[in-house]
Amino acid sequence: MGQKVGALRELAIGESRVSLTPDSAVQLRKLGYVCFVEAGAGEAAGISDAAYRAAGVTVVADAAALVAASDVIVKVRPPTTAEVDLLSAGQTLISFFHPGQNGELLEQARSKGANVIAMDMVPRISRAQKMDALSSMANIAGYRAVIEAGNHFGRFFTGQITAAGKVPPARVLVIGAGVAGLAAIGVAVSLGAQTYAFDVRPEVAEQIESMGAEFVYLDFDGGAQQDGAATGGYAAPSTPEFREKQLAKFRELAPQMDIVITTALIPGRDAPKLWLDDMVAAMKPGSVVVDLAAERGGNCDLTVADQKVVSDNGVTVIGYTDFPSRMAAQSSALYATNIRHMLTDLTPGKDGVIVHNMEDDVIRGATVTFEGAITWPPPPPKIAAIAAQKPKEKVKEPTPEEKRAAEAAAFKAETKNQLVLLAVGTALMLIVGAFAPSAFMSHFIVFVLACFVGFQVIWNVSHSLHTPLMAVTNAISGIVILGALLQVGSGNGLVVILAALSVLIATINIVGGFLVTRRMLAMFQKS
Ligand code: NAI
Repeated sequence: MGQKVGALRELAIGESRVSLTPDSAVQLRKLGYVCFVEAGAGEAAGISDAAYRAAGVTVVADAAALVAASDVIVKVRPPTTAEVDLLSAGQTLISFFHPGQNGELLEQARSKGANVIAMDMVPRISRAQKMDALSSMANIAGYRAVIEAGNHFGRFFTGQITAAGKVPPARVLVIGAGVAGLAAIGVAVSLGAQTYAFDVRPEVAEQIESMGAEFVYLDFDGGAQQDGAATGGYAAPSTPEFREKQLAKFRELAPQMDIVITTALIPGRDAPKLWLDDMVAAMKPGSVVVDLAAERGGNCDLTVADQKVVSDNGVTVIGYTDFPSRMAAQSSALYATNIRHMLTDLTPGKDGVIVHNMEDDVIRGATVTFEGAITWPPPPPKIAAIAAQKPKEKVKEPTPEEKRAAEAAAFKAETKNQLVLLAVGTALMLIVGAFAPSAFMSHFIVFVLACFVGFQVIWNVSHSLHTPLMAVTNAISGIVILGALLQVGSGNGLVVILAALSVLIATINIVGGFLVTRRMLAMFQKS
């Protein structure tokens, strides 16, 4: 029988999430684990003990019994000191931990000999996305921020022309287009609001615009926003000049905006103050500010963590820090899935036995205590370390003259190459023509030209157009298959073999083409 995974009930007041759901328990069972849950753990998320039992989970009366019975303990919030006290050597705890802020807790876990995996330390790399609980929770927070704003905003999001009058669309400004910001943009746009978004990282402009929102550009030093990509997708702190520009832009926008959702944060720092007193004062009465960065001091001057305040001019400022918990059914489902994926990576043999592989970048990155030692902060992930070793040299922007000269040289070289190829091709053709019969020659020339034209046409197609191109190659394969079918009955054995081969290859092309096209189309279909 496999090891035991036990989910604790959350003790924090107002915390409604749970780290195990009946669905995730079924998946964990397939991984070879036996699941336990503390009685009442899922109640606030709408999951009864009976629902757990139906999924084969054993319900245990209290935390002490649950920890004693489990090899792996999972939960949402960082554990309390009393909870860490229950742990014993060799047990694994998987939960949010915030090791940077919880030094004493970390030391306590170490002294207990427990191996702690902090879900908030999962590195933000593509392979780890499925266990990135910060992202899955930020996504929910962004969604809920718009819903919460709508709840306090006395008007429609969408513009309407009705018999009773014309309603302009609400204007929503999202500051910080990370995970939470992009989720907020998605919801605001889909509710029909005219949505604007700002971020210091210029590379998100395309994402923002593709979602139907307008990117607020800053004209800064001839360029635009600064580039934060160097810090692993996180922004670098802004320079004072940049900040001034940014604030001036916000001052200009403040009177026009009905709803402002701020999500700006640089990891490991207090939230930058971006929506200042005077901007709130410039907003219309009835407007709403939702500050998702409230936990780290807030992006708005007026924010009070965990509270809703109303300014003198009637602007509601919301600083709740528990948005994911306010959608506990959804957030529990996603968090439990993140945990389940983490356990999948920890169970390479799918035999219900944890293999805590400290060589694995993701597991190493998230592990904060291991075998009696504190392993936080982790070394930089190997991929980042390789990238850091070779800093890209800043290439000097060429002048227009240099650019033109380089283009001319490239053109010359290309023309020369083509002429050489043409000469070689002609010579080969002449040699073949000297020996081959004339009927063969005419077919051969058509074949060579077809190859040449086909190559030139396809080689220059940009990657984004490969799907439509596939439809064309499918049509060509259709013609090939017809020709091959006509030839397959021929008396000549070689022709039969070649025709059969053509039928086979063209069939693979057609079926594959349809499958890929179908998958691509499904990405754009609303389910
Ligand atoms: P993220 O790191 O993905 O996004 C933050 C974004 O802010 C980045 O795109 C960054 O470039 C941008 N940014 C940084 N400095 C900026 C500046 N000066 N001006 C404009 N943009 C700037 O973070 P994520 O995961 O989207 O989280 C956003 C916020 O939401 C965080 O403060 C997080 O703690 C908070 N959060 C709040 C919850 C709640 O219940 N209130 C729940 C989950 C997350």
